[in-house]
Amino acid sequence: MPLNIAVLASGRGSNLKAILEAIKSGSLDARVTVVICNVQGAGAISIANEHGITTEVIPHLGLARQKHESMLLEALDKYPVDFVVLAGYMRVLSPYFLNRFRDDRGFFRVLNIHPSLLPAFPGANAYKEAFDYGVRISGITIHLVDEKVDHGPILAQETFPRLPEDSLDSFKARGLSLEHKLLPQVIQKISHEGVTFFARVEATGADSKTVKETVSP
Ligand code: GRF
Repeated sequence: MPLNIAVLASGRGSNLKAILEAIKSGSLDARVTVVICNVQGAGAISIANEHGITTEVIPHLGLARQKHESMLLEALDKYPVDFVVLAGYMRVLSPYFLNRFRDDRGFFRVLNIHPSLLPAFPGANAYKEAFDYGVRISGITIHLVDEKVDHGPILAQETFPRLPEDSLDSFKARGLSLEHKLLPQVIQKISHEGVTFFARVEATGADSKTVKETVSP
């Protein structure tokens, strides 16, 4: 049975495209049941349309976070969704949203792709911050989402080098092509083997560094 995924995106949509192309080529056994976008006119909407995928545009501007999230949940309720994939979704999701996707094991069935080796360089400008810092190795992280920004059990990480002749653009391009390879692979792994990670670190409370559990591959 293919894994039913809902993709949430805010921008260009190149990771959505990578997912859809992997499905089309047969290397990813999943179905994108809906693409939800919070930005009218985002590239992700055109990409979904080109692939015949249903889209919903739910702008957040002027809405309280919980109101916007309740609209997202209401939209998601109309589709079969085993997993939510954040592919360049530039909004933080609160526990109000995440709890709807709580797995029996206590994590959320929501994954995010982040363009750094977390926990280094969280936030919206990871490529630039890593580049400006002068890292020699950077990477891509795919993780389950928890209550903290760019935090949660790590499902996969892969590295790429910063080369001496790199500009920020060439550095980003190298990372992005790795994103496009890694994201479909991780979704495929979830689809076939379920969710596996080495450790889960509590996101809230004073003991925020406590390792809560280990689910090994
Ligand atoms: C990617 O770099 C992703 O890692 C980050 O946002 C960007 C989205 O790009 N979270 P795209 O919209 O998938 O092209």
